[in-house]
Amino acid sequence: MLLRKGKQEDVSPIAEIWHLGWGDGHLGFVPQELVDVRTEESFRARASERVHEATVAVADGAIAGFVIVVDDEVEQVYVSAWHRGTGVADALLKEAERRVRANGHRKGWLAVVAGNARARAFYGRSGWHDEGPFEYAATAEDGPITVPCHRYTKFV
Ligand SMILES: CC(C)(COP(=O)(O)OP(=O)(O)OC[C@H]1O[C@@H](n2cnc3c(N)ncnc32)[C@H](O)[C@@H]1OP(=O)(O)O)[C@@H](O)C(=O)NCCC(=O)NCCS
Repeated sequence: MLLRKGKQEDVSPIAEIWHLGWGDGHLGFVPQELVDVRTEESFRARASERVHEATVAVADGAIAGFVIVVDDEVEQVYVSAWHRGTGVADALLKEAERRVRANGHRKGWLAVVAGNARARAFYGRSGWHDEGPFEYAATAEDGPITVPCHRYTKFV
């Protein structure tokens, strides 16, 4: 497995991993208003806009997952269903922590929806601290949508 910067050719696999993973981690746990705008097409558009900000994991020639870091926020952490539980997520999160540090911060943060038990267990095991519930403003075309989340932080 190797990590590298996202390239134009990664848009389709990123969009697919993002769309399916978003469903796994969010359906049933976020307002319907958000589900309505997170269509397959919306993930294709976001993947296309954000691909050059992403770090991707490549395993056996296929995109296995990606992270996107913005300033001190680990904004996206997604691993394909096939590659979960294989250590790809650990490698991506470590890289995200390095990026937060390279951006000049000692402490990183991320938002995770309360019901996303697998992600919360993963962050907890990776040394991230649950600072409790807060309202996250998820981006959407017609303005942000408030999503009840937990804020996790880590000194990186
Ligand atoms: C979150 C994610 C990146 C974690 O990667 P992963 O490879 O699945 O992580 P791991 O399997 O190493 O760790 C998950 C932990 O949750 C546990 N777990 C697995 N399924 C679970 C479930 N349904 N409920 C609670 N915990 C679960 C695992 O046993 C493991 O804990 P352990 O290390 O103590 O055994 C990955 O699951 C993913 O992409 N999910 C969909 C997208 C998502 O939710 N992203 C995060 C948005 S904030």
